[in-house]
Order: sequence, then C-alpha cells, then structure tokens
Amino acid sequence: MPLSNRIDTAIARAVARGAAAPAPDLLGRALDYATAPGGARIRPTILTSVALACGDDAPAVTDAAAAALELVHCASLVHDDLPCFDDADTRRGKPSVHRAFSQPLAVLAGDSLIVMAFETLASLPDDHAARAMRLSRHLARRTGMPGGICAGQGWESEPRIDLSAYHKAKTGSLFVAATQMGAIAAGQDPEPWEELGARIGEAFQVADDLRDAVMDEAALGKPAGQDGLHHRPNAVTELGLAGAAQRLRDILGGAIASIPSCPGEAMLAELVNRYARKLAPLQAMVEPGE
Ligand code: IPE
Ligand code: IPE
Ligand code: MG
Ligand code: MG
Repeated sequence: MPLSNRIDTAIARAVARGAAAPAPDLLGRALDYATAPGGARIRPTILTSVALACGDDAPAVTDAAAAALELVHCASLVHDDLPCFDDADTRRGKPSVHRAFSQPLAVLAGDSLIVMAFETLASLPDDHAARAMRLSRHLARRTGMPGGICAGQGWESEPRIDLSAYHKAKTGSLFVAATQMGAIAAGQDPEPWEELGARIGEAFQVADDLRDAVMDEAALGKPAGQDGLHHRPNAVTELGLAGAAQRLRDILGGAIASIPSCPGEAMLAELVNRYARKLAPLQAMVEPGE
C-alpha cells in the first residue's frame, strides 16, 4: 500500500473509533471535516518513513503513532483558525471548521481530536504497552507546556516573543515528535533522532514564513500575509527574503548529515532531498538572480 494510503487509512480508523452511535452528529461531521481530506500529511509521512528506516517491526504501532500525531496537528489547526487566535476563514482550500460549523463545534472538535490522539495510542494491544506509553509521553511533551505547540501558541500572548523558542515550540515540536515517535514505534532509541526532526521543523517554518510573504490565498489554501497582519516575528522580517531562502538551504544541508545510521538511511536522505527539491521554486521566487 502506498505510504499516503496507509496513513489516511490509519487516520480514518482512529477517527471512526470515536464515532460509535449514539453521538452528536454535527460534532462527528466536524471531526471528519477537520481530518479529511488532509493537507500534506508531512508529519505522519516523516514518522512512518523513520519507522520504516528502522525496520518497522510493529506496523500497527507505527500506524497508531502516525494517526495520533496527525490528529494533534489537525486539532491545532482547528483551534489556530478560531477568531480568538488567527481568525482565519479558510484552511486547506475550504472554509475553516468554525466557519463551516460553528465556534463551539470547532472548540469541541479540537478538544476531541486531541483526546482521540491519546486514546489511539492507549488502545494499542497490551503486548505493545511499553511502546504505547513511550509514544504517549513523547507526544504529550511536544503538544503541551513548556515546549510543545500549546507553549508555541502561548508565546503569541507574551509582550515580547523569543523567535527561536516560539518557532521551536509552535512548529519544531511536532517535527521532533515525528522523527522520535517513528523511532520509538520501531523499538529504537529516540534520542539520536531529535536533531533531524528539529532541522526539518525549522526548515518547514522558514518555508511557511516565505510562502506567507510571497504567495496568495488561492495558492496557499489559507489566508496569506498573516504574519504581517498579526505582527508576528518571522524569518522574513528577521532575515529578509533572500536571507530566509539562504537559511532554508543551510538548515536542509545539515539535515542530511544529521540522519542517524540505520538500515534506511539512504531512503531518508532521498526524502530530505525530495523535500529540498520541492522548495526550490519557492527559493527561486525570492532569489530571481540565482
Ligand atoms: C501548517 O502546517 C501549520 C504550521 C505549522 C505552519 P501544514 O502546512 O503541515 O498543514 P497541512 O496539514 O498540510 O494543511
Ligand atoms: C499554526 O501556526 C501552528 C499551530 C497551530 C501549532 P500558524 O498560524 O503560523 O500557521 P497557519 O499559517 O495558520 O497554517
Ligand atoms: Mg497561528
Ligand atoms: Mg494561523
């Protein structure tokens, strides 16, 4: 089964588990709407690729971990779009959840997805209990305080924002979760996988800041110019367009070197290279002379 089908199937299975009747129909529909069709699914793709590179000896654990991580990510987007955060009307090319349903249902959908993520891990068979526990611990650390996505969003309410801590928590945390949970799912030590996740996460955030600055809503599928509108510190205001593009190149260059040695090392290097190639047109947009 292609990786994207494997991931979508795991996510659909996790969401369906929370939909046993009798349940409020609209909230159930909001959960489906928030999770499918998905976006790029980059976090579960990285997680599953790392697990495969490490042998993937317990595929059911990998699938549960990939689904749990993506559910937390989807929840974060539903909450992020709410009027009390970014007040965004569109997401993934369609109305955001609170615009399509309502604000109460968007709050509840985000809450339900977070709980569902941890339930997915806790529902793994008892013979995988040790891995399930480690996965839950790592996902919790990257989701909450002090260094997870809640902390990342929390920085936006501070009078002064530490850009590096903000980006690490807001975006980097779920990429570190992706590489480390992939290793844990395959029974490996997560420690050596932190740097790769952090590098991909930082590259992703710089690319997102560049896109926010130079692309429009039609191309992004979500509102553009958000960083400027909300006065958020970002890589483009900090480094300029060309500086941000150069930073992207530097981070991705180091990412290949940070791949821990494992049976699938070459496959992961190709994955990082493919990501770098995907970002090339964006870099060309801001570096017309190159
Ligand atoms: C958007 O993440 C939120 C950020 C951390 C910048 P993605 O760009 O991965 O969103 P989807 O899942 O593909 O829609
Ligand atoms: C969303 O960040 C990140 C989280 C919800 C943790 P942004 O607000 O920068 O991302 P977009 O532009 O809405 O996707
Ligand atoms: Mg935001
Ligand atoms: Mg936003």
